[in-house]
This record gives sequence, structure tokens and C-alpha cells, in this order.
Amino acid sequence: MKSLVIYYSLTGNTRFISEIISRISGSDILELKLKKDDSRLKGFKKYFWGGMQVYMKKKPELMLFDKNPQDYDLIFIGTPVWAWRHTPAIETFFSNINLNNKKIALFCCHGGGKGKTLEKMKYRLGGNEIIGEIDFKEPLRYGKDTGSERVKAWVGEIVKKVNAQTLKVR
Ligand SMILES: Cc1cc2nc3c(=O)[nH]c(=O)nc-3n(C[C@H](O)[C@H](O)[C@H](O)COP(=O)(O)O)c2cc1C
Repeated sequence: MKSLVIYYSLTGNTRFISEIISRISGSDILELKLKKDDSRLKGFKKYFWGGMQVYMKKKPELMLFDKNPQDYDLIFIGTPVWAWRHTPAIETFFSNINLNNKKIALFCCHGGGKGKTLEKMKYRLGGNEIIGEIDFKEPLRYGKDTGSERVKAWVGEIVKKVNAQTLKVR
């Protein structure tokens, strides 16, 4: 079973979690990067710019992918929470790539109010099997170790589920 972690991250929290998932599950990793450089957005500017992107339902253009998500059976998808939902970069991904019949595990990073982020992602991913979900409150700020331990346990559960299903099919 081939697995991939797809994520977007502006300030590093979702990247931190994504890299752990990739390492412990042996998954490939695909970071969604905007064509328009967003790396210098700091402080209030990033809230203003990001908030506008969400409210104006922007779908920013993404850099070309070096992995094809269609080649994978299990896909972890991670996003920061912006205005109680997934980021515009992830929305662009959902609009450009039609995933079907995949096993999907969802995760998000937030500052304490994830709202309906995971529900909205699930809605966009109809036709796939959602095999797990988890959220993290700013792991870089509130505890890298606790974050890592929770990721490990979560990935362990997902791998177990997938293995049990694969055995049944055989
Ligand atoms: C534009 C913008 C909107 C945000 N909206 C929310 C929100 O609605 N709820 C929340 O808990 N955190 C919100 N945050 C905080 C981020 O979700 C949080 O810092 C997250 O860990 C960032 O992930 P990253 O470091 O991978 O970019 C927002 C941040 C930005 C920049």
C-alpha cells in the first residue's frame, strides 16, 4: 500500500506534524506551495491576507507537484485552520485533483478554534473513505513532544486499520 502526506503550511506547524507522519509511516510527502510567494507574511499581515483569501473564496495557483496523488492508496491531508475552515491552497488542491476510492486521513493545526474544518474537508472528499482525523493546537508553541506522541499513536491506529482491511480483502 503506497501512502502520501499532502499538506500546506504557512508558519510551520502543519509541516512539523506532516514530517513526523511521513517519517513514522514511511509515506512520501508533498508540500503544496503557492506560485505567489507567501513566506514573508508575518504578524497582522498574514491574518489580513489569509482572511481575505478565505472570504473572497480565492483558489491560489499552486506550484507543480513532484508526486502524483493518484498513484497512492492512503493519503494524509493536513491544513492549518483559517477562519474555521481549510486553507485556500487545500481548496485549490481539491478543485484540481479529483480523488476517488482512496483511504484518507485528515489533520489540521489551529490556535484553539478548529470550527468545522474537518467536516468541510470530508464534504469535499466525498467518494473516498475517511479512515482517521485529528487536530493539533499549535504544536510548535504548545508542545512538540506531546504533538509527536499523539501523531505516533494516531498513525499507529491508522496503519492497524488499513492492515486489517487489507487482510479481509485477501
Ligand atoms: C489567516 C489566518 C486565519 C486563522 N484562523 C484561525 C481560526 O479560525 N481558528 C484557529 O483556531 N486558528 C486560526 N489561525 C491560526 C492557525 O490555524 C494556527 O496558527 C496554525 O497552527 C497555523 O498552521 P501553520 O503553522 O502550519 O501555518 C489562523 C491563522 C491565519 C494566518
